[in-house]
Amino acid sequence: MKITRINCYNFRNISKLDLKPAAGLNIFVGSNAQGKSNFLEAIYMFVAGRSYRTNRSSEVISFSQDKTEVHIELNKRESNFSLYLCIDENSKSLTIDGINRKKVADLLGYLNIVSFFPKDLVLISGGPKQRREFIDLEISQVIPGYYQICQQYQRLLKQRNMLLKNAWQHSFSDNILTTFNDQLIDLGSQIVMRRLETLYKLSMLAKLAHRQITDAEDNLTMNYNSEIGIADDITQVYKLNREAVEDLLSKRLQAVKEKEKERRVTLAGPHLDDIGFLINGHDVKRFGSQGQQRSTVLSLKLAELQYMRSETGEMPILLLDDVLSELDRKRQTLLLETAAGHTQTFVATTDISLLADSIIKRASIYQVKGGVFFQQQDL
Ligand SMILES: Nc1ncnc2c1ncn2[C@@H]1O[C@H](COP(=O)(O)OP(=O)(O)OP(=O)(O)O)[C@@H](O)[C@H]1O
Ligand SMILES: [Mg+2]
Repeated sequence: MKITRINCYNFRNISKLDLKPAAGLNIFVGSNAQGKSNFLEAIYMFVAGRSYRTNRSSEVISFSQDKTEVHIELNKRESNFSLYLCIDENSKSLTIDGINRKKVADLLGYLNIVSFFPKDLVLISGGPKQRREFIDLEISQVIPGYYQICQQYQRLLKQRNMLLKNAWQHSFSDNILTTFNDQLIDLGSQIVMRRLETLYKLSMLAKLAHRQITDAEDNLTMNYNSEIGIADDITQVYKLNREAVEDLLSKRLQAVKEKEKERRVTLAGPHLDDIGFLINGHDVKRFGSQGQQRSTVLSLKLAELQYMRSETGEMPILLLDDVLSELDRKRQTLLLETAAGHTQTFVATTDISLLADSIIKRASIYQVKGGVFFQQQDL
């Protein structure tokens, strides 16, 4: 999968850009605050129509402008696609191959991206929400319909919580809760099943990558932590069938019934689950060094590349923002070598000398200054 052309208008500090990236490695060099991350953010917008930096889409519109437009031409499985996003103060519109789409979520599956940003360390150090969002977006990129299931689940959860919250005002019969529970079990078990299946594959790939990174010293494993009573070890549970998960979820809902009425909130379901990362059996979040946390995220990213390739039959696009300075030469080279040849890669850096000569030699290099991009040979 390759982006063959990208146009941006009034996207943050990029007022106008028309760029035809190389099929391989593209490096964007510039001092701080010039627009490198803004450019990567513009590409990332095409994963699900959302920024990774803000929940308020209108923030990406250049100051004192009223709308932004980003247009991408994509070559995928020997076909060309044209994706266009327009964002104004109140709305977003999406056009795919010239046809207006009602839902921005229709974008999912067109542009598959693996991104590695400095903030990704929160995947380890942050709270469970970040890890759930990570796995759900990963699945949404490759499994059609999964994103919609998550949205339906969130809507249901909101309604169920409202019901519990207002229970003291309007006494409701257990029948209403049972109807909600049936839907929660149906949607919730689909989410859990997909997460287990995906985590199992990712964990196997991440384990291999981690061995390579650490010269087989560290054994990286991943867990799925759920209150519904699934055994944590992902290698043991991936074969659980849907009925078994439904049964566990149903039993958990029964068990928390009284507590839910007391606390007035839903206390069972995949919205409470978490992913654990362990090195040699110890939780990386609690016991891992900074370096081990960084290596864990890197292994996960390398695993994502292979996972998406095996699920979609094509290498995704790789975005690397400022992370190369965080990796030593060996890890940097491993990452770029894994990507080299078959992955279109966009790298943002303030200091190109951090990169190995062998990597610079085969890259297209752009200087970024004040939101303007100059290709190296144009200088
Ligand atoms: N909506 C916006 N309109 C105009 N400019 C914006 C907007 N949002 C952010 N900026 C500006 O964009 C500039 C560049 O930001 P960006 O994050 O791309 O920098 P960068 O080149 O990645 O720098 P660094 O090396 O520090 O990460 C900043 O000066 C910021 O103030
Ligand atoms: Mg930046």
